[in-house]
Amino acid sequence: PPRHFVRAASSDAATAAAKKLLIKHVTIIGGGLMGAGIAQVAAASGHTVVLVDQSDEILKKSTKGIEESLKRVTKKKFADKPEAGAEFIKKTLKNLTTSTDAASVVHSTDLVIEAIVENLEVKNELFKRLDKFAPEHTIFASNTSSLQITKMANATTRQDRFGGLHFFNPVPMMKLVEVIKTPMTSQKTFESLVDFSKAVGKSPVSCKDTPGFIVNRLLVPYMMEAVRLFERGDASKEDIDVAMKLGAGYPMGPFELLDYVGLDTSKYIIDGWHSLEPNNPLFAPSPLLNKLVEEKKLGKKTGEGFYKYK
Ligand code: NAI
Repeated sequence: PPRHFVRAASSDAATAAAKKLLIKHVTIIGGGLMGAGIAQVAAASGHTVVLVDQSDEILKKSTKGIEESLKRVTKKKFADKPEAGAEFIKKTLKNLTTSTDAASVVHSTDLVIEAIVENLEVKNELFKRLDKFAPEHTIFASNTSSLQITKMANATTRQDRFGGLHFFNPVPMMKLVEVIKTPMTSQKTFESLVDFSKAVGKSPVSCKDTPGFIVNRLLVPYMMEAVRLFERGDASKEDIDVAMKLGAGYPMGPFELLDYVGLDTSKYIIDGWHSLEPNNPLFAPSPLLNKLVEEKKLGKKTGEGFYKYK
């Protein structure tokens, strides 16, 4: 059947202008860690989802990962109803298709969520191209952690229908979505993105388009301060981790968290912010972090970062 988008009336507004877009069909670009997770929660909550990546091989891997994650979720959610669980998985997977050609699938989409490589030029090129193929009503959103949403919106002609949707890793587990409003994002777009976040089972918070939004703006300087505390020799990394777990009730210490996030990713974020605000001491680069990245000790994924993993 042809895919028409549906408009839902907001609570009391009678005018057409006040009507916000009910997002039903979603295109997700990038089937990596984040894109696959977003595709999973969107499909599981009844949206039709097209997941796009560069090759069928990558997409096969993404789909396999989604299937495995769905099985884990279902085991918990439908613990004593295996039949209902099997039905849930079947229904979810039916909502999900894949493609290697974004331009050819966006014609029927209400929302495009971009979760590709963290590189502004590459993202802008993608948005600029899709802007030509997507229908007028389609909202574009980026899942970027550290780049400015405004710069991406400016690569398109739909600045009012452009925002940030920042999910957290692992997407099926983490309840938060940061909905980012640029100075050009319309209220209607913003509300549609908030509603979509709720529809996929998340708790949205809103933030302006400032470096790191809420979570990373607080978390990254905190982790960098931990590295600086250790670099000065004030405390061992083990003691800093124990202290923050037992004294602040954090589930992971800052060095464990850095290793989990990836030291290259952390360095990339802090370097980007440092170039935006060179005099901000919270964004100062760390010689120790730089050295570890140079030595390819990137954290858990490479077997060694601040700690060794077997
Ligand atoms: P990833 O490396 O796991 O996945 C990226 C995927 O995008 C790869 O499968 C790649 O083949 C694909 N891709 C690259 N260029 C493409 C293009 N032009 N067209 C289609 N597909 C393309 O990366 P990850 O970790 O999923 O991150 C994606 C985005 O999400 C980044 O912007 C990152 O900053 C953001 N993010 C990452 C978080 C994390 O914890 N890893 C948390 C929140 C946001």
